[in-house]
Amino acid sequence: MGFLAALDRGPSARAALEAMSGAPAQVIARAPGRVNLIGEHTDYNGGAVLPVALPHATWAVAAVRTDGRVRVRSLQRRHDEVAVELPSVAACGPGLSPTWAGYAVGVLWTLARAGVPVPGLDLVVDSTVPLGAGLSSSAALECAVGAAVLGVLGRPVAGADADLLVDAAVAAEQQVVGAPTGGMDQAVAVHGRAGHAVHLDFATGAAAARRLVALPLHERGLALLVTDTRVAHALADGGPDAEPVGYAARRADCEEAARLLGVPSLREAVPDAVEALPDGRPRRRARHVVSETARVAAFVAALERDDRRELGRLLAGSHASLRDDMEVSCPELDLAVTAATGAGALGARMTGGGFGGSTVALVDEQSLGQVAAAVDEAFEREGLAAPQHLVVEASDGASWSPV
Ligand code: GLA
Repeated sequence: MGFLAALDRGPSARAALEAMSGAPAQVIARAPGRVNLIGEHTDYNGGAVLPVALPHATWAVAAVRTDGRVRVRSLQRRHDEVAVELPSVAACGPGLSPTWAGYAVGVLWTLARAGVPVPGLDLVVDSTVPLGAGLSSSAALECAVGAAVLGVLGRPVAGADADLLVDAAVAAEQQVVGAPTGGMDQAVAVHGRAGHAVHLDFATGAAAARRLVALPLHERGLALLVTDTRVAHALADGGPDAEPVGYAARRADCEEAARLLGVPSLREAVPDAVEALPDGRPRRRARHVVSETARVAAFVAALERDDRRELGRLLAGSHASLRDDMEVSCPELDLAVTAATGAGALGARMTGGGFGGSTVALVDEQSLGQVAAAVDEAFEREGLAAPQHLVVEASDGASWSPV
């Protein structure tokens, strides 16, 4: 059993860019994946979330082209390359390829639409964020490419340009790729900060109110263990015309529940009104959102007073609610949570959208190895493929540097 290293992929992506383009790289940009501590399926309901930017990230290395073409190559996808003409990016946005390149080229389109003078570019991307693990590899890709564009224009990822980048990345995901996600992932990929979790409150819609919450894990002898179950249950949402399944179906359920309750979003729902709904899906979904929103506030308070027992209790409560009321867990996630808790984790839960992906556990630093080994053993006993573990220190959000 080992932990997935958060290597710097900047140098190898730079070498690949220079080989592809025959010109020197100009900018190396980086944007992290994320793990959400608590507040799941709340962002699109006007609720709060508490994610952390991972040390594992996506790199995008860029050089400007003068012929108005865009070439993007991914070192993760067997050097898969996509080439488009800039005018066609501007013209056909939502018709762009829905593969990985849709995220990369999509953000060029949404940035251009927002008035950014996107030039022709050669881009090479590489990443240490596991794909399809519920750790927001797609937001990392969108934000790394967008940061590279800001980089070649000499515009730091700060202030209004940081917010512009978040909006462009969200729009690429929702309008180009067609995934109706809620905005948490891109916000933390840009605004993450070393040593902190990011409290995002979506009460006022997509432009979440942001607050950094100190996360002194190492100082308290604690660590965050993320376990990628390597399971992705086939519930691919996607395409503007696709029938809602999986994530999109949960979103539709929540909208239906808000309609039944007569509130603009489930953020406004009150527990008594929720319990007065007839038994069924809307009541369960609303119950999750209302209880999860309360758990986020309680978690921040428990972090501040270093109340570990309460942190563990809240993580367990979140998992149970996602499993029973939101119905987005799966046997492998439940197994990873049970095994981690059984081996001494203070608390554990599934993280991200669900239907597979990863769990997050809060553990004593000393018992990291023991907890990870116990999860591995549990998976082996069930005849499942070995999961992959990451030890997470809260890291910084997107940035670029000149080469
Ligand atoms: C995915 C989405 C987020 C959020 C989570 C669930 O990661 O991209 O916006 O809704 O699921 O909390």
